[in-house]
Amino acid sequence: MAKQEDDFKKVISHAKEYGYVFQSSEIYDGLSAVYDYAQNGAELKKNIREYWWKAMVQLNDNIVGIDAAIFMHPTTWKASGHVDAFNDPLIDNKDSKKRYRADVLVEDYVAKIEAKIEKEVAKASKRFGEAFDKEQFLATNQRVVDYQEKADSTLKRLGKSLENEDLADVKSLIEELDIACPMSGSKNWTDVKQFNLMFGTKLGASAESAMDLYLRPETAQGIFVNFLNVQKSGRMKIPFGIAQTGKAFRNEIVARQFIFRMREFEQMEMQFFIRPGSQQEWYEKWKENRLKWHLSLGMGEDNYRFHDHEKLAHYADAAADIEFRFPFGFKELEGIHSRTDFDLSQHEKYSGKKLQYFDPELKENYVPYVVETSIGLDRMFLAVFSNSLCEEELENGTTRTVLKLPAVLAPTKAAVLPLVKKDGLPEIAHKIIEDLKWDFNVIYDEKDAVGRRYRRQDAAGTPICITVDHQTLEDGTVTIRHRDTMEQQRIVISAVKGIIHKEVDMRTWLQKMA
Ligand code: GAP
Repeated sequence: MAKQEDDFKKVISHAKEYGYVFQSSEIYDGLSAVYDYAQNGAELKKNIREYWWKAMVQLNDNIVGIDAAIFMHPTTWKASGHVDAFNDPLIDNKDSKKRYRADVLVEDYVAKIEAKIEKEVAKASKRFGEAFDKEQFLATNQRVVDYQEKADSTLKRLGKSLENEDLADVKSLIEELDIACPMSGSKNWTDVKQFNLMFGTKLGASAESAMDLYLRPETAQGIFVNFLNVQKSGRMKIPFGIAQTGKAFRNEIVARQFIFRMREFEQMEMQFFIRPGSQQEWYEKWKENRLKWHLSLGMGEDNYRFHDHEKLAHYADAAADIEFRFPFGFKELEGIHSRTDFDLSQHEKYSGKKLQYFDPELKENYVPYVVETSIGLDRMFLAVFSNSLCEEELENGTTRTVLKLPAVLAPTKAAVLPLVKKDGLPEIAHKIIEDLKWDFNVIYDEKDAVGRRYRRQDAAGTPICITVDHQTLEDGTVTIRHRDTMEQQRIVISAVKGIIHKEVDMRTWLQKMA
């Protein structure tokens, strides 16, 4: 645990030191769970957004993208169920006065059991070597079987209690599991209460005429209320999808873990409108498709897993998370939800307007069903950033810190470095920059010895360095150095652009999804 915390602290301080993420309003001591993206962070975030948008909108001829407003008519949130049901179950520790999400306390308890299972597996795999059969071990080792049973039964009971709104049982579960406050170690808990997560605000100049509004807690509703407008104006035929990216706001009570859980964050969501009855098939398809998108970034198959929901949100008939191995363990990165016709039917009911589709093949009108994919952009940022940060021991006994971002997402694709600040080398480097900057984000760096500059670019995540030296003056060649392998090649200047393209081109990366 201490190592995990230590690794996570390194991620946070690296993000600050290299201009990725800053605490919001830091000069006023910051604002809890609100963050600003700095010069490199804004680029990385933009690249992730584009990688998602291309995969969803550009590459699918039956998906279009919109950009709906953050403010929506307040009845939207009554219809969607957020006014009545968008709550977190909270519990306070009477001694430390700290407030927790009751379900998260239980889930953290289960995560510790799962960590024990992983430890047993690692130990056994070391002991048995090549002959180790993980499946068999998980099914037959009594200690592991007991752990798994405990984890499963705990989650099942939590899911059932939450579904039945039985908050007294959630408290009993916390007491039975002997869960202590992580701050004080005390088990002196209050009752569990519900707390609505939406931020309220007002629209209008005077107090009498002002209208109570909410900041949207999800982008999805902007898609639902526009369903018919998009379908008609785009002459869309079912099955089709509407995608959008944008800010969402939630008054998270337990907002820890850096940009994992924020009060203001960005979502990338897609609602896929389908025939009633086909939801199981599309749900499976989108689960598979979204996992492929993640895997195309090459961040390690072992770092992802599906988690099927026991406790379903008020709108869903099936739901799963794609979980990622963050520095603090496996946690939700993306949700895939089969939302039935809940949202469109509710909006029909509350608006009095028909939100139906005439299916020319079936020759009938119906309210479409929806399968949704929903991923937090900031959470994806954290997954990419934390997974990329590593320290490597080098052959000469030194270590280097390197941010091995997938090159397609890196904020700066190449740094151009004149070996010395004289003899015409800076002029050539600037000329190279002038040419490359039309295609890529590139930077010029002439300060310090070239070895130190390489280290700086490694730590900032720049995949390629181009060094201009005295040989360049003679034969027009430069050295290209690759961040991950530290390999160097000598090439003619005219070949530089092609090499960068090969490494960072979105097409090449996204084709890995096929
Ligand atoms: N429209 C469905 C929906 O909003 P959700 O599971 O509440 O579903 C979807 O959120 C995704 O949004 C999550 O998987 C997560 O990546 C991201 N997300 C949710 N709350 C967040 C928060 N407070 N901070 C950062 N990301 C968050």
